Amino acid sequence: MQAYRISTFGVEALESTTLPMPEVGPGMVLVRIHAVSLNYRDLMVVEGRYNPKMELPRIPCSDGAGEIVAVGAGVESVGVGDRVCTLFFQRWMDGAISSENSKGALGGDVDGVLAEYVALPQDGVIRFPSHLSYEEASTLPCAGLTAWNALHHAGVPESPGGAGETVLVQGTGGVSIFALQFAKLAGMRIFGISSSDEKLERAAALGLDAGCNYRDVPEWSRWVATVTERRGVNRLIEVGGAGTFAQSLEAAGFGGLIAQIGVLSGGVATGAVPLTQILRKQLRVQGIYVGSKTMFAEMNETIAGAGLRPVVGEVFAFEAARDALMTMKSGQHFGKIVVKGTVA
Ligand SMILES: NC(=O)c1ccc[n+]([C@@H]2O[C@H](COP(=O)([O-])OP(=O)(O)OC[C@H]3O[C@@H](n4cnc5c(N)ncnc54)[C@H](OP(=O)(O)O)[C@@H]3O)[C@@H](O)[C@H]2O)c1
Repeated sequence: MQAYRISTFGVEALESTTLPMPEVGPGMVLVRIHAVSLNYRDLMVVEGRYNPKMELPRIPCSDGAGEIVAVGAGVESVGVGDRVCTLFFQRWMDGAISSENSKGALGGDVDGVLAEYVALPQDGVIRFPSHLSYEEASTLPCAGLTAWNALHHAGVPESPGGAGETVLVQGTGGVSIFALQFAKLAGMRIFGISSSDEKLERAAALGLDAGCNYRDVPEWSRWVATVTERRGVNRLIEVGGAGTFAQSLEAAGFGGLIAQIGVLSGGVATGAVPLTQILRKQLRVQGIYVGSKTMFAEMNETIAGAGLRPVVGEVFAFEAARDALMTMKSGQHFGKIVVKGTVA
């Protein structure tokens, strides 16, 4: 089968290769991959920034959608012909995250899905809503589920966000656009920041209530204060990291929750970070790490019920996977970047 493998770090060095078909042992399923969506993590993995000590060679990418074409002995929960997504965390089925169930993430700890076929345990896949194409479904395992967790669980099983809350989304990438779509469904009021006025307009068409260009307004927490009549926001989808965290602390309202998801501008804060805002406003800074299979099932139910369609910004052919990664690196995209499998 065809697959991409990292033998040396770097997008240009990502090799397209022919590998033996994966073996389908007892309790396992063989998935023919039809689409793979990219996450910023995949770029970091390929460039050696995610885990410079990662064992190589490694097939990258966590998020695939495909069709089950064979099952091993004892497989009962899914069958041949099922259209499924791969799970980012192959072992986090339910409850809270732990050191044990967060091991074995696809495209990091173990081989990922940027290949024609992948063999996984039957529990490591989940059927997706029938109205979605493979390309759309491939966006769910990491970006979709992370946004869902941040809005409706905040890292723990029970912490529902809901109607009437205000939320701020940062940028217009995969996680943030999902957060915008889910927040809209939940009846939240949504504010957003972006580097681009044109992207803010596109976000407004999806339901963004008000937007601010963070290049023009680096102290965008002041803008948040204005649009919320000084109340601040209830929830922040924090993906910027070092460059945005201080502003997020300022922008959060009393009792607010900062869902700490990403580190796009670095993972180590360098400037002044107003820690007193955390105690003064009794903020919660909650790390979010994708989500469990139970959360995925709940998200699927909502997506199916609402007929929601993920925003796929650009689609690349399998042979152009390196171009897809370079597009992610450029930050020009809106929503998700998808690489097609070798079959439609
Ligand atoms: N913890 C988890 O479980 C988890 C899961 C998924 C992703 N992540 C992390 O979350 C982050 C976003 O991931 P993604 O896959 O959604 O990325 P993505 O699709 O590449 O989105 C990146 C977008 O964020 C915006 N951005 C970039 N730098 C920014 C900054 N300094 N301040 C505000 N916005 C900025 C840009 O949008 P504009 O051009 O509109 O400004 C950019 O296009 C990454 O750090 C990723 O590793 C974490």
